[in-house]
This record gives sequence, structure tokens and C-alpha cells, in this order.
Amino acid sequence: MRASTVAAAALGPLLWVSSAAASQSPKRGLVYTPNENWPADDAIWSNKTSGLTWYYNFGWNASSAYAAIPQSQFEFVPMMWGAGSPNGTDTYFLGNITATIKKAERNITHVLSFSQPDQPFTNGGSEMKPLVAARAWVGNAVPLREMGIKVGLPMVGDPYSWLDQFRKNCTMLLTKAKGGKETECEFDFVPLTSYGNFSVLSSRIGMFAAALPDIPIWVTEFGYNNQELNVTQTFFNESIAYLDKTKIVERYAWFGAFRSVVSNVGPNQAMLDPYGELTDIGAWYLGENGTGTVALPTDGTGSNNSCTADNPCGGAKNAGESLMGESSLMTWRWAGLCLLHLVVMASL
Ligand SMILES: *[C@@H]1O[C@H](CO)[C@@H](O)[C@H](O)[C@H]1NC(C)=O
Ligand SMILES: *[C@@H]1O[C@H](CO)[C@@H](O)[C@H](O)[C@H]1NC(C)=O
Ligand SMILES: *[C@@H]1O[C@H](CO)[C@@H](O)[C@H](O)[C@H]1NC(C)=O
Ligand SMILES: *[C@@H]1O[C@H](CO)[C@@H](O)[C@H](O)[C@H]1NC(C)=O
Ligand SMILES: *[C@@H]1O[C@H](CO)[C@@H](O)[C@H](O)[C@H]1NC(C)=O
Ligand SMILES: *[C@@H]1O[C@H](CO)[C@@H](O)[C@H](O)[C@H]1NC(C)=O
Ligand SMILES: *[C@@H]1O[C@H](CO)[C@@H](O)[C@H](O)[C@H]1NC(C)=O
Ligand SMILES: *[C@@H]1O[C@H](CO)[C@@H](O)[C@H](O)[C@H]1NC(C)=O
Ligand SMILES: *[C@@H]1O[C@H](CO)[C@@H](O)[C@H](O)[C@H]1NC(C)=O
Ligand SMILES: *[C@@H]1O[C@H](CO)[C@@H](O)[C@H](O)[C@H]1NC(C)=O
Ligand SMILES: *[C@@H]1O[C@H](CO)[C@@H](O)[C@H](O)[C@H]1NC(C)=O
Repeated sequence: MRASTVAAAALGPLLWVSSAAASQSPKRGLVYTPNENWPADDAIWSNKTSGLTWYYNFGWNASSAYAAIPQSQFEFVPMMWGAGSPNGTDTYFLGNITATIKKAERNITHVLSFSQPDQPFTNGGSEMKPLVAARAWVGNAVPLREMGIKVGLPMVGDPYSWLDQFRKNCTMLLTKAKGGKETECEFDFVPLTSYGNFSVLSSRIGMFAAALPDIPIWVTEFGYNNQELNVTQTFFNESIAYLDKTKIVERYAWFGAFRSVVSNVGPNQAMLDPYGELTDIGAWYLGENGTGTVALPTDGTGSNNSCTADNPCGGAKNAGESLMGESSLMTWRWAGLCLLHLVVMASL
């Protein structure tokens, strides 16, 4: 990839190596869809002391809570989640990004492309045929790259089957668009997600690094879902230290930035407790000392650590807020990422 050499050379500050999990890192960012029930949570992540450098929200437009924050402080990375139209000819993304740069004067420097196009809608994917994605890429990503914006490859499960077809189809379409002059579709970084233990994370990174040598990797969502607290915290410390010291990893985002009671990956992955207070993991992610706050605290009645519909982690801090009961929590757990992605899709 010619593109990658250029991209790697421009990475200077992002290759910084951290030594402690609780420290901050310029690679560290946020995947965040604001929860309208708890708007006060938005400010936690954009706090100047948070150390987070970037965020994405699955859409092309900056989150309204962060609209006034300059890119240099908290970089918004737009995502072209899906094709925009069934045959991929839509250029809504290019139109909006161009308008954002011109009218909103937001200095967009990186964009993410399709989210899990190799997966059906029912699994939360954007369900695109490689040829449709290739057409959408030529119509949107190619002109953005020509403007100097760095573009991420479609985010897929592995670097082979779907991606191979996509790249072949893309080169074919771009070559045609360039009047027959053989032109490869190029890209600047490769996003991937990982759910599972530490060897799942490191082997996914190893697999992409081997298949696409020298292309910087963005781990756009990761975690060890549905585990006990001590297992999750051990994974957190190990994976953050690994991502910080691994040079090919340019950026990462822990999943995630939500309250434990609405987590679809198990409560212990959450960076906020049911009241919106940072958990240990949340505090460590922002470079702070642990809070001792657990994801699902007792409500003071001393029974155990589960919040249920009958026992909804009540208390003064919870006044006026409704929490999901255990049955909704289970739904979220078992629905995987699909609900989040479907919500995002509906808003496109
Ligand atoms: C921002 O960080 C400061 C210092 O850590 C803290 O006192 C303040 O409460 C934080 N604000 C929000 C909204 O999290
Ligand atoms: C994009 O976001 C900005 C800031 O949140 C908002 O003012 C604007 O209306 C949004 N644009 C569109 C087309 O939704
Ligand atoms: C894509 O669909 C649009 C709208 O239906 C149609 O006008 C256009 O010809 C199609 N283009 C291709 C390449 O299939
Ligand atoms: C921006 O995106 C919206 C869909 O979110 C679309 O309706 C609109 O036409 C786009 N604007 C431009 C200038 O392409
Ligand atoms: C946009 O951001 C990039 C990277 O930080 C910087 O090199 C460039 O000068 C900025 N452009 C403008 C117009 O501010
Ligand atoms: C897309 O690429 C695949 C794999 O090379 C190929 O089988 C298919 O024919 C291509 N589609 C088109 C329309 O060229
Ligand atoms: C990590 O998870 C994978 C996949 O579930 C499993 O095969 C492997 O044994 C696990 N490794 C450890 C050290 O637990
Ligand atoms: C977590 O705690 C359980 C039970 O106390 C223990 O068996 C397990 O070894 C611990 N795991 C880690 C990774 O600390
Ligand atoms: C994780 O790291 C934090 C902060 O460095 C530390 O306080 C905590 O004890 C560590 N936990 C585990 C299980 O390694
Ligand atoms: C974390 O705790 C240590 C020791 O108690 C203290 O020296 C340090 O200032 C604290 N760091 C932050 C960011 O609060
Ligand atoms: C927690 O307490 C509730 C209500 O007292 C009970 O139904 C539930 O089984 C308990 N859960 C655990 C894990 O002990």
C-alpha cells in the first residue's frame, strides 16, 4: 500500500508509548452515542482533563454536545456507516463532509467507512455487497482522499474474503472512472473490533497486521464482554498496556462509554455506574485513579450487587431517573451490538 507509507510517516505523535494503564495516551478515544436520558454524561468524556483525543458516533455529523469543541482538542471522526442507497451511488457522505469543512469550518482529517458490511443488518452490520461498497467508496472515499483526508478501510471480520472482493471491484471501478488507467483503491488505516480475551485481541491485530503490512490499525471497539469484574479489569489493564506499546495500533476506543444498566456487553465493561459516576475502568481510561465504584452497586439494602426492576439501585443520586430492570439488561446483553447499530442505522 503506497498510502500506508505516507500515513505512517505522518503518525509521529500517535506512536507515543505509555507505561502505565492509568496514564493517558494520544491513541485513546471514544465510541459514543449520547444517551438522551442522561445528557449530563456527555461532559465527562469531553472534559479537558479526560485526555481523550478523538471520538466517533457511527454517523457523519459531530454530536451536538461536542459541536463547539475544536477538532484540535477532541477530534470528531465521521463514519460513512452504509451505502446511503441500495446500489451505492449515493454521495451524501461526500456532500456532508465537504459542507462540514467549508461551512462548519471543522477541520476533518480522518473518516471511517462502512461498519461491518460483511454482516447482515440483523447482526448489526451494514450488509453491503463488495461491488456496492466499492461504488460507494469510489463516489465518496476517493474524492475525500484526493482532498488529503485519511480514509479507513471498511470495518470487517477478517482481512480476506469480503475485503479481497471489495478491493478488486473497487480497482475495477476506479480504473474505469480514471479512463482505463489502472488505479488501485488506496486507504490509510484499517479499523477492527475485538470482543473476547486478550489472545483474541492480540491475534486479531496480528492477523490484520500480517495481511495488510504497515497499515495503521484502529481498534474501534474492544472489550472482554460478559465477564466478572476481576477478569474484566485484568483484561483492561493488559490490553491497554499492549495497545499503547504496539506501534501499528494508531488509535483505540474501549467499549464503552455508557452506564452499566444499559450495557449490551455486560455491566462490568461499562465506564459509568447506574448513576453516571465513573467506575474504576472509566476512571483509569481517563487517566485518573480508581474510584472503587462498581458497575452494579448494592442500593444500601445490603442484598447483593444486582440491580433489578424491583431493586433498581435506588437512592438519592438516582432521583428522577429510570433505570432498566434486569430483564431489559438481559435483552441488551444478548442482543449484542445489534441494537446500537440498528438505532444508528435508523437515524441515517
Ligand atoms: C472534569 O474534570 C475535573 C478534574 O478531574 C473534575 O473535577 C470535574 O468534575 C470533571 N467534570 C465532568 C463534567 O466530569
Ligand atoms: C450537524 O450537527 C450540528 C451540530 O450538532 C447541527 O447544528 C446540525 O444541524 C447538524 N446537521 C444536520 C444536517 O443534521
Ligand atoms: C442506482 O440507482 C439509481 C436510483 O434507483 C439509478 O438511477 C442508477 O442508475 C443506479 N446506478 C447503478 C450504477 O446501478
Ligand atoms: C447530508 O446527509 C443527509 C442524510 O443524513 C442527506 O439527506 C443530505 O442530502 C446530505 N447533504 C449533502 C449536502 O449531501
Ligand atoms: C487541519 O489539521 C491538520 C492536522 O492536525 C493540520 O495539519 C492542518 O494544518 C489543519 N488545517 C487547518 C485548515 O486548520
Ligand atoms: C467483484 O470481485 C469479485 C472477486 O474478484 C469477482 O468475482 C466479481 O466478478 C467482481 N464483480 C464485478 C462486477 O466485477
Ligand atoms: C481465549 O478465548 C479463546 C476464544 O474463546 C479461547 O479459545 C482461548 O482458550 C482463550 N484463552 C485463554 C488464555 O483463556
Ligand atoms: C477472578 O476471581 C475468581 C474468583 O475469585 C478467581 O477464581 C479468578 O482466578 C480471578 N481471575 C482473575 C483474572 O483475576
Ligand atoms: C489495573 O490498573 C490499575 C491502575 O493502574 C490498578 O490500580 C489496578 O490494581 C489494576 N488491576 C488489575 C486487576 O490488574
Ligand atoms: C493518584 O493517587 C496517587 C497516590 O495516592 C496521588 O499521588 C496522585 O496524585 C493521584 N492521581 C490523580 C490523577 O489524582
Ligand atoms: C440478588 O438479590 C436478588 C433479590 O434479593 C435475588 O433475587 C438474586 O437472586 C440475587 N442475585 C445473586 C447473584 O445473588
